[in-house]
Amino acid sequence: MIVCLPATVADLPRLTALENAAFVTDRIRCRQFRYLLSKTLIVKAVDGEPDSEVLVGCLVLLFRRDSHHARIYSLAVSPVARRRGVARRLLAYAETESRRRGLIGIVLEVRPDNEAAIALYQAAGFRQIGHRLNYYEDGAAAVRLSKIFADESAR
Ligand SMILES: CC(C)(COP(=O)(O)OP(=O)(O)OC[C@H]1O[C@@H](n2cnc3c(N)ncnc32)[C@H](O)[C@@H]1OP(=O)(O)O)[C@@H](O)C(=O)NCCC(=O)NCCS
Repeated sequence: MIVCLPATVADLPRLTALENAAFVTDRIRCRQFRYLLSKTLIVKAVDGEPDSEVLVGCLVLLFRRDSHHARIYSLAVSPVARRRGVARRLLAYAETESRRRGLIGIVLEVRPDNEAAIALYQAAGFRQIGHRLNYYEDGAAAVRLSKIFADESAR
């Protein structure tokens, strides 16, 4: 059974290995994961029994004091665990946590040629709100997406 819960320092080696397996560029390095763990929420998805569980997914969710939106900084699912709803579960966790914190939505950036991720986000209710030029290490632009889950005018 796949379960989502906050990651801890003990997960650092597994988080780094998953990141390396999922991304070719723009990888989060071990030191950066350590820093992020101390500052924000990293959600892990694990599969199996507690004594033999396998890390199958990871989502880094950023919060800013001056923003009503959370930001998904990274989302990765192990290549061997894809198309089993792991990312969908991680997104649901991120949304629940963002709502719990009184936020009105989530924003993120994605490569325009990342068809799997764009299909995932569209299916989850994200819509395009713009671009960010020169966003990735190789100079590629990013598509910016958002999902609003509360009435902004109500704030
Ligand atoms: C994108 C990624 C996170 C999806 O993870 P996943 O756990 O396989 O996704 P899910 O199983 O939760 O898929 C949920 C829905 O997203 C869509 N989707 C996911 N992968 C897809 C693919 N390869 N092609 C088309 N649609 C896809 C489908 O609508 C899917 O629902 P369905 O399986 O019922 O058709 C995963 O492929 C990955 O880690 N890729 C490399 C890292 C990356 O690109 N991260 C995103 C950076 S912004």
